[in-house]
Amino acid sequence: MRFARYDRIARHYPQMWPLIVPGYLPILNGMLDVLRAGPNRPQEILDLGCGPGSATVAVAPACDPHGSITLVDGSAAMVSAAQDVLGDSVQHAVVGDFAEPAVAAQVYVAQAYDLALSSFALHHLEDPLKRQVIDGLGLSVRKGGLLLLADEIASDRPAGWDLVPTIRARIIQEHLQAGRISHEFWELETSLSADDHLPFMPARVDEITSFMARAGFAVSCPIIILGSALFVGVKTA
Ligand SMILES: C[S@@+](CC[C@H](N)C(=O)[O-])C[C@H]1O[C@@H](n2cnc3c(N)ncnc32)[C@H](O)[C@@H]1O
Repeated sequence: MRFARYDRIARHYPQMWPLIVPGYLPILNGMLDVLRAGPNRPQEILDLGCGPGSATVAVAPACDPHGSITLVDGSAAMVSAAQDVLGDSVQHAVVGDFAEPAVAAQVYVAQAYDLALSSFALHHLEDPLKRQVIDGLGLSVRKGGLLLLADEIASDRPAGWDLVPTIRARIIQEHLQAGRISHEFWELETSLSADDHLPFMPARVDEITSFMARAGFAVSCPIIILGSALFVGVKTA
């Protein structure tokens, strides 16, 4: 996979992403709520497809302040931005494609983490690769640990009606018209070469739920907002 798209927007991402993905902030806030509802403060944290560290930052108030973090992202600019924000708590920073065997061998270490975050990072993969990644997470999350998986999901189209994409397009248009989405960011997103476009392949809720269950997680999906979902997996063995 090519990561130029994310390298280009790393500087703009934290301010712009909430404006182009309407469910994004509620879901990051939901991750924090989930952790606050649990008995433990995670210490060993994996952030897979970390971007600029947004999910780890969002859940930090519910984690052990002396914990350690493993970051993984194919975009070197994103990993660097995450390291700047998270500082000394970063134990490992891996730049690479988490669906590739060499990276998988480094990251999916047996029983290594008590919290794995995968936030808006799997929807560029075909479903069999999504499943493979979730299996890796199943191997590497300890018994009793959590997987918080947020992502774009396939939207229903009642009677063929493109309901969710239509609402999302209207929200983005309003942000553009009000000048909240910067011209520079929009230019970067809309001027990508064909080679640097990434496929958009959201899975269905029942498929992600099934992949997680088969990887050893008891699963709940407490939030779905305009095409984005948060799945909570508790590792049972
Ligand atoms: C939409 S951003 C999400 C960033 C962050 N997790 C968040 O919630 O804001 C997707 C990130 O996942 C990374 N990513 C997507 N697919 C990947 C893969 N197969 N291997 C490594 N990184 C990947 C991208 O480079 C990008 O930084």
